[in-house]
Amino acid sequence: MDLSDAKEEVKKAADIIEIIGQYVQLKKRGQNHIGLCPFHSERSPSFTVNQDKQIYHCFGCGRGGDVFTFWMEYHNLSFSQSLKDLAERYNIDLPGYKGLPEEKKKAELKELLFKTNGLAADYFHNLLARSAEGKPGRDYFSRREISQETISRFQLGYAANKWDGLINYLKSKNISLDMGAKAGLLIPKKDGDYYDHFRDRIIFPIFDLNHQIIGFGGRVLGDSLPKYINTPETPLYHKGESLYGLDSAFRNIREGGLAIVVEGYMDMLALRQHGISNVVATLGTAFTSNQVRRLKGYTKEVVVLFDPDDAGREAALKSFPLFLNEGISAKVLVLPQGEDPDSFVNRCGLDEFRELLKGAIPIFDFYLDQTIARMDGGIDGQIKVLGEVLPIFMEVESGATRFLYVQSFSEKTGINEAIVWEELRHWEDNRSERRNTARLKSRFFSDQDPRKYGSDLQFLNLLVHYPETRDAFKDKEWELIVSDPEIIKIIRVLMERFPSGGDLGRIEEFLVSPVAREQLRVILMSQPFYGKELVNQAVSEFAQKIAKIKISQSISHAKAEGDMEMLNRLLKAKQDLDVDKKGI
Ligand code: UTP
Ligand code: MN
Repeated sequence: MDLSDAKEEVKKAADIIEIIGQYVQLKKRGQNHIGLCPFHSERSPSFTVNQDKQIYHCFGCGRGGDVFTFWMEYHNLSFSQSLKDLAERYNIDLPGYKGLPEEKKKAELKELLFKTNGLAADYFHNLLARSAEGKPGRDYFSRREISQETISRFQLGYAANKWDGLINYLKSKNISLDMGAKAGLLIPKKDGDYYDHFRDRIIFPIFDLNHQIIGFGGRVLGDSLPKYINTPETPLYHKGESLYGLDSAFRNIREGGLAIVVEGYMDMLALRQHGISNVVATLGTAFTSNQVRRLKGYTKEVVVLFDPDDAGREAALKSFPLFLNEGISAKVLVLPQGEDPDSFVNRCGLDEFRELLKGAIPIFDFYLDQTIARMDGGIDGQIKVLGEVLPIFMEVESGATRFLYVQSFSEKTGINEAIVWEELRHWEDNRSERRNTARLKSRFFSDQDPRKYGSDLQFLNLLVHYPETRDAFKDKEWELIVSDPEIIKIIRVLMERFPSGGDLGRIEEFLVSPVAREQLRVILMSQPFYGKELVNQAVSEFAQKIAKIKISQSISHAKAEGDMEMLNRLLKAKQDLDVDKKGI
């Protein structure tokens, strides 16, 4: 089976709306589905998916493609792996499909790394579950009230207190130590030898959304430092991109429309054990925009539970602009002094935890309270705070929300509301960038008056949406009326590969230039510029345009050659054309 067959098989079975809809909330809008782009920050949807053509395109960041491109970009995987994943998902056999040679090495490495991680997780888990060496780990988990069920559900483990435990295990499984090091599990020594990275720690495997292990966290059993170590950067693990527990929570998050976010591994596990299924952990203190962007595909409501220490408060504050940027309404719950979610739920139980959750406050209020608490007295303090919050107010798109924000701000600070509005207007005037992008966006969506579009785009749009018109230009020098080289590339492919129609879903395969691909997607997603009744007229206008340019070229040529007879004939022909045109 070759690549093209394999791709076709999967494409036939896969539905792009279903695939993308798992990770992005899509709404039907006209002929397309739209949602918030998972690849860049935005609050109003530019991410557009078209079911007929089985493509997607983001009008904000320009990314797009077909179901494979999405899978690759979203999960950070190679093409071959994506093809495999999707084929598996739809129960499609790909007999003898070998994958692309150029990405084979990378894909093989990743596959080996997944395998190595999987073996390491087995090793840690088995130690914990049944070996004598695992007793310290078992005692630790039971002290922290983690049940057997939780241990097996999350494949928790224990790394023995020695330098070569995992080394020997990997050797017995024929995994090279170099691969162990590449997975971040072993550390190379100067003499070419290796030692175990995780020793005498309990182990938390970190899964990706396809439930494969991308990395590990390990906690000491006592008080020594560092308390936690994690897998370093590897081809599979990128700090700040994943959320612990998301693979087992994202469906629940979507169904319930709410995500609870905690800081630590143990917090996540404790809450899960008490039956709270929509919780994930950030693994570190600050939320990243990557993590927020992941979540926003499942829900617009997030409650952030941070520890009541300075680091926790700081993390919550830092996350405020992130949420604002993604249009997520986040609430913050600062736990009672001395508690974290893990200790709280274990001490007080589920009901009290749920009660506590109700006390979460909108992140804006939290932000305001914190900022004001740090405000120095006097006018200087007020001016400083105003300077800090104005840019934030500017980001608030909804007028009503902004109104409430300003009101509550001026109440809390004692700064006159009129002054705040005045300052806001001042800021607004100095800022045009956002309006520009808004205008750009509306270019694609607003009324479809063909005169507003460049002639190149009109011509391409005609050829794309009315395949029968391609024939009229196939022997004409249509390149003469198209000035954008990228559009020329697209039209060439259309004329050569799809002279009389056919499924344009595959056309991207023939286009190398990413600019051309993007341009094409935009056209594929847009409505026809010309209504059916205008098609014939458009064809003849474009044909005349070509003819005119050709005559002008010949005229220059005849002039240069001094061929008077030819020149006269050409000038006459040009006149006729002009008259013709007026007649239409
Ligand atoms: P905490 O110090 O709040 O730990 O760090 P915790 O989760 O409550 O841990 P327990 O309850 O003492 O076991 C919160 C999270 O920050 C990351 C870890 O992901 C931890 O779960 N962290 C913390 C590190 O990565 N390294 C550290 O040294 C400390
Ligand atoms: Mn804790």
